[in-house]
Amino acid sequence: MKFIDLNDKQHRSSDETDEQMAMDILHGLNAHPKYISSKYFYDSRGSEIFADIMNLDEYYLTDCEFEILNSHSDALADLMPDSLSVIEFGAGNGLKTKVLLDAFSNKIKNLEYVPIDISKAALESLEINLADQLKDIRSTAVIGDYFHALSWVGKNRQDVKLILFLGSNIGNFTRERAIFFLRHIWGYSNHGDYLMIGFDLKKDIATLSAAYKDKSGVTTEFNLNLLDRFNRELGANFDRSKFEHHAVYNPIRGAMESYLISTEKQSVSIENIQKTFNFKAYEPIHLEYSYKYLLSDIENLAKETGFEIIQNNFDSKKYFVDSLWQIKKEI
Ligand code: AVJ
Repeated sequence: MKFIDLNDKQHRSSDETDEQMAMDILHGLNAHPKYISSKYFYDSRGSEIFADIMNLDEYYLTDCEFEILNSHSDALADLMPDSLSVIEFGAGNGLKTKVLLDAFSNKIKNLEYVPIDISKAALESLEINLADQLKDIRSTAVIGDYFHALSWVGKNRQDVKLILFLGSNIGNFTRERAIFFLRHIWGYSNHGDYLMIGFDLKKDIATLSAAYKDKSGVTTEFNLNLLDRFNRELGANFDRSKFEHHAVYNPIRGAMESYLISTEKQSVSIENIQKTFNFKAYEPIHLEYSYKYLLSDIENLAKETGFEIIQNNFDSKKYFVDSLWQIKKEI
């Protein structure tokens, strides 16, 4: 598999990427309330921990989507044209997509696969996990964040596309940001292209809460790894024993919210930006939203952004939906 790194010298300098992280932290830790963007979870250690999260009993999302892809991939392949580029945003380690690619490579003559992820390490394990499938398919892995990758796709892939945005990755976007991202996809696509999005559906709060604060502490580790990452990459001196992980469902927002809470008054210095940040006792840092959807929310979102819903495929518990959309453009 060919790799294209949108962070490397040709595309932009890696200094620019480090600088971007430092600036984001500077903004986020000066804000009230403090926040850090969830995209920084995924250094190589973070992607590894996220793979462990997907294996947790409490993290039902992955099992549900496996069930959906297992039962619907053949029928999906039948809908697709003979020549197709499958572009996957946030592909991660590729284990879920394996099922889909197996079905597609049997039925689609001219198939290309373009997995995109912010983590190079995740795409390297994808290459190993999908070794069998990739033998028969043209493929290019793209390392970069969603918006840089989208403009790369717009410039580099003109043929009929199926864009995958699985695993409730869209859940990290606020409603406004989701609309912004979907309008971008619309703009970069052609009439008739497909988009399949994995949405986690609203359900009982105990199930949601357990998924984002598991008993074995893997999700806590996932959150604390952020602090370790800033210590490693920005010369910060966070003491992880002085932060507590908290996850809570906000029914008005319709999202799980994740926080690290400073358990005491403390200061943390970040060498790369030459700045010290003060934390009051019990002051939170907001890290992540994981939005949950009603079917009516999904219908509104499709309508508002210029797509038609072709089919909704659910798991047997109706916890999750992979919603297949098609782009509508007037000529
Ligand atoms: C990768 C964004 C889908 O929000 O469910 C899992 C990330 N965070 N546990 C999610 C995550 C904590 C996950 N997504």
